[in-house]
Amino acid sequence: MAKKVIVDLKENSYPILIGKSIVSNLNELLKKYKINKHLLVIVDEKVEKIYSNIIRSEINSNYFKVNYYTLKSGEESKSYIELNKIYAYMINNNFGRDSAIIAIGGGVTGDLAGYVAATFMRGIQLIHIPTTLLAAVDSSIGGKTGINFEKKKNMIGAFYQPKFVLIDTDFLKSLPHSELKSGLGEIIKYAYLTEPKFFSFLEKNLENIYELNDKILIDVIAISASVKAAVVSQDEKESGLRKILNLGHTFAHAFETNLNFNIKHGEAVTAGIICALILSNKIGLLKNSKFDKLINLPLKIKLSNKLKEMNKEVLIDIMLHDKKNRNEKIKFVLISDIGKILVDVEAGKSEIISSINVMLDLIS
Ligand SMILES: NC(=O)c1ccc[n+]([C@@H]2O[C@H](COP(=O)([O-])OP(=O)(O)OC[C@H]3O[C@@H](n4cnc5c(N)ncnc54)[C@H](O)[C@@H]3O)[C@@H](O)[C@H]2O)c1
Repeated sequence: MAKKVIVDLKENSYPILIGKSIVSNLNELLKKYKINKHLLVIVDEKVEKIYSNIIRSEINSNYFKVNYYTLKSGEESKSYIELNKIYAYMINNNFGRDSAIIAIGGGVTGDLAGYVAATFMRGIQLIHIPTTLLAAVDSSIGGKTGINFEKKKNMIGAFYQPKFVLIDTDFLKSLPHSELKSGLGEIIKYAYLTEPKFFSFLEKNLENIYELNDKILIDVIAISASVKAAVVSQDEKESGLRKILNLGHTFAHAFETNLNFNIKHGEAVTAGIICALILSNKIGLLKNSKFDKLINLPLKIKLSNKLKEMNKEVLIDIMLHDKKNRNEKIKFVLISDIGKILVDVEAGKSEIISSINVMLDLIS
């Protein structure tokens, strides 16, 4: 039985279906959600290698006309060069407004394929089938799509919601440990945004996630998805509440940029959450007793030694130039307790640097 979470956006509402082996329902779902008959399946090349038989057998090729486009793995694919290739492929293969895109892969595939769906002929139907933990709990939900521009992340994009999201835990079985760890960064973030129950559940179950226990995975993904869905339902385009999803991200983006993206996004987010907790404590928002409890969860995740190579002055510079910061002030999403998040909190350079130093001490 699949779990179902609804992203409630009035006429653009859609379900997120989570379960084991549920890709076998794909045909049925395509018909149920009135998906057009000409399909472009954009699939990550590693996923294609492992699952091509399953993917091909789950779409009825007598009923649907299907083209498959294999996307080279890696962040470089989120580029206008790849975007142009896909537009050309679609035009050469007579795709029209009455077509649909199915994105099968991680966040790179979902973001790029989502942007193609948002823009091709002013928008065609989109379905996400995320195959990384990070994509399952984060990037496939909420409608952010886009590409990078000259090494600048997500500079061009659109908000574009899918018709449904299908998360089959069978796909996650081939993920390397590093990708699971990356997904955990975003999952931990949700633990600070919702009720304390989920925080305790994660404290107990981190190992079960690494071991890909289906029941635990389904629960964790469903809770994470429901936290994100609830936020997105209230603030689709990030004019207010949605900013809370950026907990740890001001630090994380600076870490990723300083390390030339040689660190997984979710791992940078975990380090960023640790810094956000320390900074919240330093500026008096988070009491010592609460800090001691809340810091333990992210510290259970072993983080990369590469973080020690970062240059603090450069980090500050990157944060100052972050597109979310204006007037030479750096703004953070901070926390006073589980479920109590504060956005747009300004902090000084010395507190920021000392938070990063404490984080580096704690993770060694
Ligand atoms: N749209 C959003 O809201 C949002 C949110 C967070 C991150 N993102 C974006 O998501 C991207 C990161 O996503 P990601 O971490 O999924 O990276 P990714 O898509 O690059 O996937 C990570 C790696 O896992 C491989 N892979 C995918 N599925 C696999 C499977 N089932 N088995 C084995 N290998 C598999 C891929 O080939 C790749 O090498 C970034 O571009 C980031 O900007 C978007």
